[in-house]
Amino acid sequence: MKWSSFTPANLREKSRQLHRRWLARRYALPVVELADLAPPDTAIAPPILEHICMPPHYYRHDHDDFTPLMKLARARQPKVIVELGTAHGNTTANLCRNCPAARIYTVNAPVEEMTGAITTFGLSREEIGCVYRQHGYAAQVNQIYANTLHLDLAPHLAGQKVDLGIVDACHDTDYVLNDFHKLRPHLAAQGLILLHDTHPSMDDHLLGSYVACLKLRQQGFDVRWLRHTWWAVWQPQWPVPAAPA
Ligand SMILES: C[S@@+](CC[C@H](N)C(=O)[O-])C[C@H]1O[C@@H](n2cnc3c(N)ncnc32)[C@H](O)[C@@H]1O
Repeated sequence: MKWSSFTPANLREKSRQLHRRWLARRYALPVVELADLAPPDTAIAPPILEHICMPPHYYRHDHDDFTPLMKLARARQPKVIVELGTAHGNTTANLCRNCPAARIYTVNAPVEEMTGAITTFGLSREEIGCVYRQHGYAAQVNQIYANTLHLDLAPHLAGQKVDLGIVDACHDTDYVLNDFHKLRPHLAAQGLILLHDTHPSMDDHLLGSYVACLKLRQQGFDVRWLRHTWWAVWQPQWPVPAAPA
């Protein structure tokens, strides 16, 4: 290594990398199977594809994040869903289609209020949620235009508990932690929080959320990784596996 590489910035980055490596060894996410959360043979409605931004339909085709989410939602029929990160509203629309009794609160910052690094899209108010509106689901949805850093869900939920929370806004570690902790106090006892773009490879944009999940485990939250997906899952109480006979 050259002496010239010992700059303060390089040393800070090196120490961040070492800390991440330690976190990943000490707090690696245990695996959960879809079958532990919902019957894997749950039938789901045909997907709405406009502006879909989830594998296998978008970005990567080697795994499926869309189907497990919809199976989980369809099987559990949540009454109240909160999604942080609406984008064009594709997931919102598909959730409306699969969970007709659900009320969905979905949050996205208009482009002029955006902060953070891994933000995926910078959208206008007209663009945010356009897919669920075009498909006629606006009456089922409360659109909240806010940066999640400044979000207070309490006045929107007015005492309702959240059955399904989805963290899919800014994927920087501090934002994912913020978003998890904004949702958690409102979660129903049997509710579930899903965190998207979370994978033990920590490749590229998967780094921020996985590190956030490691930190959540360090804080004592039993966050697990849904095998073969880019989802992490947290619920207040995991079922205790049956003892062998
Ligand atoms: C990955 S996309 C969401 C995809 C959407 N959940 C879906 O599956 O159709 C992330 C969205 O979060 C929004 N976003 C990023 N940072 C945000 C923040 N701090 N507060 C609110 N929204 C944010 C972006 O504008 C973008 O539309």
